[in-house]
Amino acid sequence: MPDDNRRRARCPGPSTADILASDVHPAPAFMGEGDVSAIDGAEFGVEAYTDPAFHRREVETVWLRCWQVACREEEIPNPGDFTVYDIADYSAIVIRGRDGTLRAFVNSCPHRGTRLCDGNGNTPRIRCAFHGLSWAADGELKQLTCDWDFGDAVPGAFALTPVLLDVWGGFVFVNFDSKAGPLEDYLEGLPDHFTRWPMEKRFTAAHVVKQLDCNWKITVEAFVETFHVIGLHPESLPFFGDVNSQYDVWSGKRHISRMINPSGVPSPHLGNKMTPERTLAAAAKFGLCADGPLSAGETPRQRIVARLRALYGDNFEVDLSHLSDSEILDVIQYSLFPNFIVFGGFGSPLAYRSRPDGNDPNKSIFEVWLLLPFGDGFRPPPEATRVLGPNEHFADVKELSYYGPIIDQDADMMPRVQQGLRANRTGKITLSAYQEMRIRHMHRTLSEYMAG
Ligand SMILES: [Fe+2]
Repeated sequence: MPDDNRRRARCPGPSTADILASDVHPAPAFMGEGDVSAIDGAEFGVEAYTDPAFHRREVETVWLRCWQVACREEEIPNPGDFTVYDIADYSAIVIRGRDGTLRAFVNSCPHRGTRLCDGNGNTPRIRCAFHGLSWAADGELKQLTCDWDFGDAVPGAFALTPVLLDVWGGFVFVNFDSKAGPLEDYLEGLPDHFTRWPMEKRFTAAHVVKQLDCNWKITVEAFVETFHVIGLHPESLPFFGDVNSQYDVWSGKRHISRMINPSGVPSPHLGNKMTPERTLAAAAKFGLCADGPLSAGETPRQRIVARLRALYGDNFEVDLSHLSDSEILDVIQYSLFPNFIVFGGFGSPLAYRSRPDGNDPNKSIFEVWLLLPFGDGFRPPPEATRVLGPNEHFADVKELSYYGPIIDQDADMMPRVQQGLRANRTGKITLSAYQEMRIRHMHRTLSEYMAG
């Protein structure tokens, strides 16, 4: 088969676009396919996952340069609230000032370099535990201990170093490169996609953190394709469009990509063995909807949509009547380079972040947010962050409901990927053309950043 045809090959099952177009409330045009159909390069070097030198280069070209999510804004609602965001060697204090403004500072004392803050909390002053220098929450120097002993040192030398900060959708982003362009440009139009799904009108119903024994990219890559459902999540096949999912990359956009996984339809892997009744029974057993006979003309998709519309309306007083069926029940997932994944619509109200744990390319920190909508009244307070130990599971977090066991299946697989990559003797891995297009896209952007 000529290479060009092979690249354009698609799963022979029903396309996501056809499924969405046949809904009672069809999906809006912006959920149609991206305008990039193929990305060159099937083979990638294993060193990206295992090599300390590759990691060092990544720190200086990616983690130093890219906008990245530091926290949710609701984590630090009051003056003096702060949280520390660590990424490899770099560290930022994200703190709300007395004026209510969010700011970020390099987490390092300008005197002798001491790390200033850990974790999160509330403090009227940022204070160095070594020599007692202190700053107000807005960064103003309040105490230069023994100022008489600094001779003609310029007081400005003791200002905290600002880190660029901006907010989108309730996510606080930072950038350690003082010359970086604005977040708005970096997001490449992502906020336009979320106009109908405002992420600032979500609250943190769960925030779960786990250290994983794998490179951060393995986690991101595992979540941006559903090729792996047949191997890792086969119980989903009766009600999940896996290999006929839609993968979207857009010309001129190197930071964002998307996939849409249709729910309530059987996997093409199951061929003609499935009936709507079997799909419904499996979806009901999983917890997506109620079981019971389908009425005339009713589809499993409609059954799930009806349940979710009622759930969001009754439990959260959120009116989703203007949204299409796909926006209610499907997985509509966006990635933002390098390490952030956020789900549009309401079918999977999640966000993920994966980052290096210190400077070991074999370890990473993976986080899951469950972000539920709320009505026009009271914003529910965020749930406290839960850090899972090595023998604890996402399934132990009841708020994650049926997402917990699925995420465990993924999280348990990732160290096996890392182990296998370290055992690899060819030095390369090979990606599929369409279903792993977002991974190709990510590596192309990564190599552009790493080229400096
Ligand atoms: Fe998975």
